[in-house]
Amino acid sequence: MHTLDDTPAHAPSSLAGILAEAELVGFAMSCEQRTGALLSTLAASKTGGLVVELGTGVGAGTAWLLDGMDPTARLVTVEADASLQAVARRCLGDDPRVRFVHDDAERWLRAYEGPRFDLAFVDCRPGKFTGLERLVRLLRPGALYVGDDLNPQPTWPDDHQDRVDRFVRELPRHTKMRWTLMDWASGLAVAARLGDPPHLA
Ligand SMILES: C[S@@+](CC[C@H](N)C(=O)[O-])C[C@H]1O[C@@H](n2cnc3c(N)ncnc32)[C@H](O)[C@@H]1O
Repeated sequence: MHTLDDTPAHAPSSLAGILAEAELVGFAMSCEQRTGALLSTLAASKTGGLVVELGTGVGAGTAWLLDGMDPTARLVTVEADASLQAVARRCLGDDPRVRFVHDDAERWLRAYEGPRFDLAFVDCRPGKFTGLERLVRLLRPGALYVGDDLNPQPTWPDDHQDRVDRFVRELPRHTKMRWTLMDWASGLAVAARLGDPPHLA
């Protein structure tokens, strides 16, 4: 039977260089191509939007997000490991739409006082396994959320499956979001932020 070939038809021009550098520094946690293509598509739906990525890594997801964003959209990407983020800064830092932040994402989320986000790509523990409530409050109604790596990954520590199971079990508790779990690519949680009741808006 014929099955759909969902290999992305294109990739950002910066991606090959980023992945080559990832290999050089031994970084094996870049998002996969299909996830990247989805990020690009969702970013393209947020004209003039504000996008946040938690966990820059070496910048593969950043490149895909920028690929979909229009010239007036903006991206802030947060990473705790300065040497990894340095690769992304080198490869993508000339793009005026992106701002790189070197910080712990949980601390950064707590301290953030800027405008609310239109799209969040959550690719580290904060914003997914911790601090989700805070991130949800920072999303504009109609904003989209993508959390990945919910299917077992070779890089997981032994205790991680329990953390993922708890996250998935507790998603319905976050009633300000309409969730869809996707057993696709690395395993995704995709959600849209619902509107605030009038007295909370
Ligand atoms: C899965 S990788 C990110 C891959 C990248 N988003 C991509 O699409 O290619 C997760 C990244 O999160 C970073 N990280 C882990 N804990 C963090 C934290 N508390 N705050 C910020 N970054 C963190 C790691 O250093 C790692 O680079």
